[in-house]
Amino acid sequence: MPQQIQTGELQAALAGFRGEISWAEPLCRHTSIRVGGPADVFVVPADLEDLRRVLRVSAQYGVAVLPLGGSNLIVRDGGIRGVVVRLSHFQDMTVQGSGLYAGAGVAMPRLAQAAMQAGLAGLEFSCGIPGTLGGAIAMNAGTRDGEMADIIESVTIMDARGDIRECPRSVLQFGYRYSCLPPGIILGARLKLDPAPRAEIEARMARSLTHRRKTQPLHLPNAGSIFKNPPGRSAGALIERLGLKGLRVGDAELSAQHANFIVNRGRATARDILELIRRIQETVREHAGIELELEVRVVGEDG
Ligand code: EPU
Repeated sequence: MPQQIQTGELQAALAGFRGEISWAEPLCRHTSIRVGGPADVFVVPADLEDLRRVLRVSAQYGVAVLPLGGSNLIVRDGGIRGVVVRLSHFQDMTVQGSGLYAGAGVAMPRLAQAAMQAGLAGLEFSCGIPGTLGGAIAMNAGTRDGEMADIIESVTIMDARGDIRECPRSVLQFGYRYSCLPPGIILGARLKLDPAPRAEIEARMARSLTHRRKTQPLHLPNAGSIFKNPPGRSAGALIERLGLKGLRVGDAELSAQHANFIVNRGRATARDILELIRRIQETVREHAGIELELEVRVVGEDG
């Protein structure tokens, strides 16, 4: 946090905030791989007005704001200087014809379930993806069966002044696990889906889930896929072929079940995970001549 801003000053500026707020909140409590140092300020806004207050105060004091999904993310051990926002209360879902509006805090598995209940197809691919809608849009999450960009009709964003804008798909850019969105916080999105028999949707979802449960180490803390798949290749298969499964740095372990997953065996630190990532990248570079790019986002300061 910049020198000029004191905790008391920020607390006073946020007077009237009705959501949850904590100071020096350990982010290991909020990331799926269970690592990460403290956030100076951690807020869970109760509603739009609360979020607007946080964004305006942060802009006024020049404090960075990071929205946290937390599932495809590694927060370094020194934590985050600034304000971390979690949109856990942004959970609204509304079916509109063959579309669905959902808030950024909705968990992807819940979203897919709601679409299926409404007889709307198009989200089945997302059953293999952890995290929230906001996070999934920000990184254009996907599998071989589809990606978020395929179904987004518009994304609603609040900017630093607290103004809200609905951005149609035509002005948004997406690439492989990449998005270029106007600056601000994603509040939610309108998704374009297709009416289909519920049983068919349910069967496709069940196939995705079975595949995921069979192939991924979901019983241990993890951050989803660590690397992007290189063009035409599978990162997991590539890493497995080099015999790296089970490689360990401290309590960070390259999963024996899926070689594109790192699991936290207990007390792993972000430093352990990043060192393990570095060793995997080095081995793949030396033996396969391929530069593995990170899919997970790495944020925060070294511990
Ligand atoms: N494979 C191996 N060894 C391994 C892992 C995989 O040989 O250790 C092989 C598999 O046998 C398969 C191929 O690699 O032939 C692809 O594996 P998988 O079906 O597990 O898919 P993936 O490309 O590794 C993607 C998403 C996952 C999503 C699954 C659902 C990416 C980078 N990852 O994984 O998304 O759950 O599909 O099928 O596209 C995430 O993004 O965080 C995530 C979990």
